[in-house]
Amino acid sequence: MLDDLKKLKKQALAEFEKLTSSEEVQDFKVKYLGRQGEFNKLLKNLKDIAIEEKPKVGKVANEVKQAILDKLESFGFQNDKESSAQGQSSDLTLPGLPVQSGSLHPNTLVQYQLEDIFQSLGFQVLEGPDLESEYYNFEALNIPADHPARETQDTFWLTNGNLLKTHTSAMQVRAIQKYGAPLRAIFPGRCFRYEATDASHDSTFYQLEGLMIDKDISIANLIAVMKELLKSVFNKDVKVRQRPGYFPFVEPGFELDINCLICGGQGCSVCKQSGWLELLPCGLVHPEVIRQGGLDPQEWSGFAFGLGLTRLVMMKYGIDDIRLLQGGDLRFLKQF
Ligand code: FA5
Repeated sequence: MLDDLKKLKKQALAEFEKLTSSEEVQDFKVKYLGRQGEFNKLLKNLKDIAIEEKPKVGKVANEVKQAILDKLESFGFQNDKESSAQGQSSDLTLPGLPVQSGSLHPNTLVQYQLEDIFQSLGFQVLEGPDLESEYYNFEALNIPADHPARETQDTFWLTNGNLLKTHTSAMQVRAIQKYGAPLRAIFPGRCFRYEATDASHDSTFYQLEGLMIDKDISIANLIAVMKELLKSVFNKDVKVRQRPGYFPFVEPGFELDINCLICGGQGCSVCKQSGWLELLPCGLVHPEVIRQGGLDPQEWSGFAFGLGLTRLVMMKYGIDDIRLLQGGDLRFLKQF
C-alpha cells in the first residue's frame, strides 16, 4: 500500500504540471481528492493491512494528500499572478475557500436594539472617549476631588491626570456644551473601574447613558422613558422597584432595580441572594451640571439615567456570570 501511495503521488504531481486552465484543475481535484477519487479508493484498502502498519501508512497517506493540496493552492496563486501580469482578471467563478464568519457580541446586539428604540423617540446616539479628563468624569458632574462619591468609582489613572472613564455620565457635560438645548441623546460606552470581580461586577463593562434637556422636564417624563425602554428590550412585563439613590449630579436621584431574571427573584450569586439587581440609576439633572454645560438652570431642566448595559444583557439572555461576556470564549460567543 505504501508503494501504491507513492505511485499515486508521483502520478498526480506529474499530471498537475500539465494542467493549463482552472477547469482542468477542478477536474484534477475531483479525480484525485473527490469522494470517489483515487486517493479515497486507495484508502479503502487500509482495513486490510496489519494493525502495526496502520500508523505508518496513515502518515504517508496524509503526506500524499497534503502534497496534492499544496499544488492546488499554488495553482490559485500562480494563476492569479500570471493573469494579472497579462492584464487579465482572475477567474471569479472559481469556488471560494470556506470562510468562518463571526457574529455580533451579545452586548452589541442589545446596544443596537436600544439605539433603535431611542432613535425612534428622537434621541441621537453619541459616543465619548474611553480616555477621559478628570473634569468631565468628576468635576463637571459636581464631584470635586475631596468628594466621597469618588471612592465608589476608583479607576485606572494616567500619569498626566487623565483616567479611563468610570461611567458614561462623563459625556453629559460634553454633549450639553456641544449641542446646547433642547437635547435628547444617549451615550453607549465602555467603562472601567478598579474593583474585584464577581458574578455581576467586572473591571470593564458597558453602560448606556441617556440625557434629555428641555423646559419643564419632570420625573413623569423620566419614568415614561424607563418603562418604554424595559418593555421594548424584554418584550414582556418585568418587575422593577424604584428607591431613592444618591448621585451628586442628579437631584432627586433614584435607583431602579430589576427583579433578577436568572433566579426569578429567589436569590442567586448574580443578585447576591437579594432577588434584585441594580440596573438603572437615574434622576433629574442637577442645576450645577446644567450650568457647567453653559446653560441657565432657571430656564432648562432635564433627566439622566445610566443603564448597566452589561447587566441588562445578562438578564435578557440568562447569563449567570458577567465574566463570560469579556472572556473571549468562542463556545460562549457562538451561541448568539
Ligand atoms: C453610575 O455609574 C452613574 N453614572 C449612573 C447615573 C447616571 C446615575 C445618570 C444618575 C444619572 P453606578 O455606579 O451605580 O452609577 O453604575 C450604574 C450601573 O452600571 C449599575 O446599576 C450597574 O448596572 C452597572 N455597573 C456598575 N458597576 C459595574 C461593574 N463593576 N460591573 C458591571 N456593571 C456595573
